[in-house]
Amino acid sequence: MNTDIKRILVTRDFPDKGIERLKERAGFKVTLWDLERPMAPEELVEGAKSHDALLCTLSDRIDKAFLDACAHLEIISQYAVGYDNIDVAYADSLGIPVGYTPDAMTEATADISFGLMIATARQMFFMHKIIIDGQWGHFRPKGNMGVLGQALKGRTLGIYGMGRIGLCMAQRCHGAYGMSVLYWSRSSNAEAEKTLGAVRVEFDELLAQSDVVSAHCALTPDTRHVFNRAAFKRMKPTGIFINTARGPIHDEAALLEALETGEIWGAGLDVTDPEPMAKDHPLLSMPNVCVLPHIGSATKEARELMSVMAAENIIQFYDTGEIPHQVSV
Ligand code: DGY
Repeated sequence: MNTDIKRILVTRDFPDKGIERLKERAGFKVTLWDLERPMAPEELVEGAKSHDALLCTLSDRIDKAFLDACAHLEIISQYAVGYDNIDVAYADSLGIPVGYTPDAMTEATADISFGLMIATARQMFFMHKIIIDGQWGHFRPKGNMGVLGQALKGRTLGIYGMGRIGLCMAQRCHGAYGMSVLYWSRSSNAEAEKTLGAVRVEFDELLAQSDVVSAHCALTPDTRHVFNRAAFKRMKPTGIFINTARGPIHDEAALLEALETGEIWGAGLDVTDPEPMAKDHPLLSMPNVCVLPHIGSATKEARELMSVMAAENIIQFYDTGEIPHQVSV
């Protein structure tokens, strides 16, 4: 075996731009898993055993068991901004650095948060179903099914996690509707405060004061089910909950209950728990709920940039020893 050759296992059929860079790089041998489905855990271990580097994504479980079996890996490069599928601390303890693709999908994801907010406030997905079901009848002054939507102008937005995507969502809401911005975040965001007049508040106040609460945090043990029964109870009965971050940030049973009992008014989700959501899930038939199949980053521009960044993390690592975008432990 030629030890100068670096063998890269690519776990999905990612956009060509980045993969071509890896393939063109002298000294790299790229193996591509190009089936429609993700690799099963045993397939991932088996595949990674004969490779030096891994280019993976959120459907790949890079946990302690995987890392123990593949402790020889030199780098793991994640095609995503979120990396809750990877036990980064354990990888670090084994000396395996982890790269990721921050900021590649900021605008694309904020667009989905913003779109879901409007779609939910105006019951767009449900109204679309009404047409398909042949129920588009006469003009109804009191709304279809006796329900009218909500105006967003001048309302209060509550951002949970004021990072890049949270800020981008806040800019859209402030610019389009003059929404006041409250936020909860581990650290303060000077740009949001200066340019949008955003006010950092305690979580309880965020829930109680906001008309729209939008989650933009990473999934960690601290944020798992942070939107639970108690949290939904504190929201306004007219409140809208948006989650484009990770499904387990909300407790889905508690969310359903809060919507059914009228504790909150509506929800827009690009992420669910589990994914995919069952096609007969009760949330899918509620008028004030809009669900998308985790498409936050799904623009051509964002996905291509993600593949280039994920590839460059590997290329630069072997060229310079540095990873341009490395997850800090
Ligand atoms: C991410 O990047 O974390 C998205 O959820 C998937 O593209």
